[in-house]
Amino acid sequence: MDYAEILDEWTAAPGFEVNLTIDREQEGWDGHVGFVPNYVKELNPDLKKTVLVCGPPIMIKFTVAGLTELGFTPEQIYTTMELRMKCGIGKCGRCNIGAKYVCKDGPVFRYDELGELPDEY
Ligand code: FES
Repeated sequence: MDYAEILDEWTAAPGFEVNLTIDREQEGWDGHVGFVPNYVKELNPDLKKTVLVCGPPIMIKFTVAGLTELGFTPEQIYTTMELRMKCGIGKCGRCNIGAKYVCKDGPVFRYDELGELPDEY
């Protein structure tokens, strides 16, 4: 199954809403254009929902900030830190965020578990 087929499947799933955006206008695209953090604010999501944020660190950083600005609590936001992993088996000690090891305790964390995002985010 390719990416387009997966998106079609998600879009058709009951109770599932897919909102797509691209950073820059592109020929053949007639959907939303704009950065994810701004688009999330435009969508004005229901504050009773739980949010999963994954992608490049800079996008995660600004999306989490935007969600917080909208009123989401750290307990409602989950994100993934797999880009910090090196050995992936708990030996190198290079993936830690505070007392947590991304490779052993994550890579998905609830935002309040992290305290704050690592510097590269
Ligand atoms: S990636 Fe090496 S200890 Fe986690």
